[in-house]
Amino acid sequence: MKSRITPVCLLLLSVIAVFAQSTPEAWTGNARWDVRINDLLGKMTLEEKVGQLVQLSSQDFVTGPATSSDVMAEIRASHAGSMLNVTGAAYSRKLQTVAVKETRLGVPMIFGYDVIHGFRTVFPIPLGQAASFDMQAIEASERISANEATSAGIHWTFSPMVDIARDPRWGRMAEGSGEDTYLGIQIAKARIHGFQGDDLSKNDTMLACAKHFAAYGAAQAGRDYFTTEVSERTMREDYLPPFRACVDAGVGSFMAAFNDLNGLPASANPWLLKTILRQEWGFRGFVVSDWGSVNELKYHGVAATGKDAARVAFNAGVEMDMESKLYYPNLVTLVKEGLVSEESIRVAVGRVLAAKAKLGLLDDPFRYTDEAREKATILSPDNLEAARDLARRTFVLLQNLNGTLPVKKDAKIALVGPLADAAKDQIGCWHGRGDPKDSVTLRAAFAATFGDRLVYARGCDVRSDDTSGFADAVAAAKKADVVVAVVGESEDMSGEGHSRAELGLPGRQAQLLAELRKTGKPIAALVMCGRALTLESVLPLADSWLVLWHPGTMAGPAVVDVVTGAYSPSGKLPVTFPRSVGQIPIFYNHKNTGRPQPAGERVQYRSNYIDSPNSPLFPFGFGLSYSKFTYDNLRLSSKKLREGDAEIKVTVTLKNAGNVDADEVAQFYVRDLVGSVTRPVRELKGFQKLHLKKGEKRDVTFTLTPADLAFWRADMTYGTEPGRFEVFVGGDSDATLSGSFELLK
Ligand code: GLC
Repeated sequence: MKSRITPVCLLLLSVIAVFAQSTPEAWTGNARWDVRINDLLGKMTLEEKVGQLVQLSSQDFVTGPATSSDVMAEIRASHAGSMLNVTGAAYSRKLQTVAVKETRLGVPMIFGYDVIHGFRTVFPIPLGQAASFDMQAIEASERISANEATSAGIHWTFSPMVDIARDPRWGRMAEGSGEDTYLGIQIAKARIHGFQGDDLSKNDTMLACAKHFAAYGAAQAGRDYFTTEVSERTMREDYLPPFRACVDAGVGSFMAAFNDLNGLPASANPWLLKTILRQEWGFRGFVVSDWGSVNELKYHGVAATGKDAARVAFNAGVEMDMESKLYYPNLVTLVKEGLVSEESIRVAVGRVLAAKAKLGLLDDPFRYTDEAREKATILSPDNLEAARDLARRTFVLLQNLNGTLPVKKDAKIALVGPLADAAKDQIGCWHGRGDPKDSVTLRAAFAATFGDRLVYARGCDVRSDDTSGFADAVAAAKKADVVVAVVGESEDMSGEGHSRAELGLPGRQAQLLAELRKTGKPIAALVMCGRALTLESVLPLADSWLVLWHPGTMAGPAVVDVVTGAYSPSGKLPVTFPRSVGQIPIFYNHKNTGRPQPAGERVQYRSNYIDSPNSPLFPFGFGLSYSKFTYDNLRLSSKKLREGDAEIKVTVTLKNAGNVDADEVAQFYVRDLVGSVTRPVRELKGFQKLHLKKGEKRDVTFTLTPADLAFWRADMTYGTEPGRFEVFVGGDSDATLSGSFELLK
């Protein structure tokens, strides 16, 4: 039967249409802002809309393959909706004034910057922060970083980097939270709340950016920008959940990654950018490319020209073009050719304007450009003290023979090594506007603490073959009661574009330790690094090994706190430390295989090597203390958990059995013994960082719900399966204190 619209229906539809027009499209949920956004969208020409999707770098500080732009001309032509690397209240105001006063519609720009582990007060590198397992301290550091950065005219940080990294050859392991998905999720949430707070329009909160979407850390051979092949199951189990946590935490933007993922570059990957991000997760922010990653589609070979690259990237879901300079003018042409829809342009611009509105920029484009606030905020004593406190919580004690650390009260100390007086190296990669002049080095802090009981000698460089300094270092050691040798990687050996094929101590540092060893003095080796290193061959050359990562501006005072025993080391490894590069990738939550190698002696025809144990040198979650913690008396609230049940509680008795007050990170792991697909030999499902006085005992309880046991099953649905589970609680991922329960349908 032919359907026809009756006059009444028509009238009803018209009323709805009129009403719909008067109700602003809900870009932000704030009617005033939404009206403003829709008004701008209605007034903008296609060219002005496309201009909002272009991000250019300030030319005075580039963070990628340098390109050149007449930035002022681009701003005046309304061809730059955003810039990056613009820092300083005055400079930010200068450029914003051009955008607001010298363009037809006066739309303010949004300024982005890599606030990765601090702005001027530099905190430990993110991998070090992960070792603290201290979510409160991590969030507090981002709160401070956001306050400093926004006081300097920055609205948006390209952080948190939430890439899971299981290959320490990859230099960007330094920038993330390590190998574990659960830890990565907790840290992602802490960072985003630290940056964005509860009100983005406040002038000390800033937009965050989840990056690099996705699986960038799975680069083959650990080579940066290299190909990634990751199954959908592994993507969904391991690599995607920290990004999902960012969406759930309200992150305002995403950054598409460089890497080719299963044949589709992440910057041209509709499965990632539309299916997962928009349809499954309901993300409502906007997506920016990585530096030049749109243009790089030509090198990947999925675009023949720049115009092709612009089309492929934009239609896949990349809404803002960082520094490829391809979206303008190509998207204008592509719309006119019908290859890109004008509606998709309008939606992308609406999302960018929504971010600007939420930051308060449409109300007051200059709210982040108060020079007096900048001066009062940057490097404040409170900020520096927070950096010191977080740094000392990140250090991981791997070995401490003969009680070499902490040093004895009146000990004479020989401070040696190429990183003892390394103002720039201690602030690590991606230190942003961190200035080595603000660093308090180990040498300065030791001198202030130990006075004339200190002898210093550099000994050698980080990477050169020069051994001419060995004699001075040996001489210093002979005058001292204890040697503190600061070795490891310089800041430019990790971070972007800094993968390594070998992971031992660089240069002649191992030889320096060997020469010092001959003196017979107790030696504490402190290691600055941006990744897991292979230390097995040098381990015997020192009594104590303390991993410092790159500890930031306040490295010196933080190290003094631990070396003197004022603070007992409490850090735990967020990444597995391998015995050799040959074991990589190596991570704790691996599968069991059909021929598991029993711990200990090698068994033929099992999954093992003929020339190495399977075990790492130090496992995920490992870290010693100056005290000694024991875990006993594990009990479960029930031996059965039903689907409909609320939860099961696992409790242990933790005791500080040593003779110093100290912090401990109690860790909770679960193993699903049988599933429709193979399951990891254990997975971190909880941790608690606790302070116990010497002798103190405390019950520590972890809670599991059925949802915590869900996984991607054989049919690629997400959910639980009944069966037996084991639980483990202890001080690292090799924890042996265990129990078990049954999950019932
Ligand atoms: C770099 C990095 C990215 C950073 C961006 C802007 O190439 O990959 O992490 O945020 O460019 O500096």
